[in-house]
Amino acid sequence: MKIPSLPARALTAARSAAKPSSATPSGPSPVQGASVLVTGGASGMGELYVRRAAAEGARSIAIWDVNLEAATALAAELSSERTTVRAFGVDVSSPEAIVSAAQETRAATGSPDILVNNAGIVRGSLFWEHDPARDIEATMRINTLAPMWITREFLPDMLADTAREKRILNVASAAGTLPNPRMSVYAASKWAVIGWSESLRLELGREGHSHIRVTTFCPSYVSTGMFDGARGPLLTPIMTPEAAVDAAWEGMLRGTPLVTKPWTVKLSMSLRGTLPTAAWDVVAGRVFQVYSSMDQFQGRAGR
Ligand SMILES: NC(=O)c1ccc[n+]([C@@H]2O[C@H](COP(=O)([O-])OP(=O)(O)OC[C@H]3O[C@@H](n4cnc5c(N)ncnc54)[C@H](O)[C@@H]3O)[C@@H](O)[C@H]2O)c1
Repeated sequence: MKIPSLPARALTAARSAAKPSSATPSGPSPVQGASVLVTGGASGMGELYVRRAAAEGARSIAIWDVNLEAATALAAELSSERTTVRAFGVDVSSPEAIVSAAQETRAATGSPDILVNNAGIVRGSLFWEHDPARDIEATMRINTLAPMWITREFLPDMLADTAREKRILNVASAAGTLPNPRMSVYAASKWAVIGWSESLRLELGREGHSHIRVTTFCPSYVSTGMFDGARGPLLTPIMTPEAAVDAAWEGMLRGTPLVTKPWTVKLSMSLRGTLPTAAWDVVAGRVFQVYSSMDQFQGRAGR
């Protein structure tokens, strides 16, 4: 019998590992009848995750956001006989606020079967212009530590309940895959999310908790207003929030480990991993013009 070559065996193993779980778009959706929690769910892409969950038959949805007014309005609009939607005013930069909101959420909507760690902020400035607390610490707390704290809070419930498929969608960014001037702290916060989220995925798989799938999402610029003024690099037009959320949501349903959007994110990851740094800097800076993409960044006025 001919033994397949190592690359052929590796490919077969990778194909079978990448096979969708039983609860995917071809089977029952993990959203149907699920309890869903979306952080930063009051506006931007978070709002669209909440809307998808309601449209696809979630039993309950918890919206965690600092903007309680917008979260409450969205919950009122989407609440129905089929789906209970509850708004919680939570500042996820505070571990104490997370613990207390988790208790309220368990009582009101149940521990989440689907957790979307989406809340995030950006400060688009030179590193030495960042205020240590207001900019550096806040970015790391909201973008990096909050997803860890929130997942740590609910993971024991998810591990114990094997009766349902579970999903964790961690929203990172293309900014976590390459360096970029005027987003050093934001980039650092998202690099950390990718490392943590991908490691968590592997731990769950290796320890046999196959009912929990972790997806890490790395989109390039999206037109929510968060990155107003930034320019899309070559072949990387600024995406609509709908296109970005579609990709993340479908990937989350399938249990896809890493979702990148658009295709140039994967291309830049490969080139950066292959080329010497000096050559990559020329390609990224002069050809793709990534390094000047934040030069006119304004962000959201008033934030
Ligand atoms: N917009 C982009 O170009 C882009 C690109 C890549 C990744 N992302 C990531 O996608 C996620 C969503 O981005 P978006 O563009 O929809 O942002 P957004 O600013 O439109 O919405 C963010 C939501 O999070 C909430 N929020 C902010 N700080 C919070 C806190 N401390 N506690 C609780 N809620 C808080 C806001 O009130 C808002 O509702 C973020 O993690 C962001 O880093 C965005």
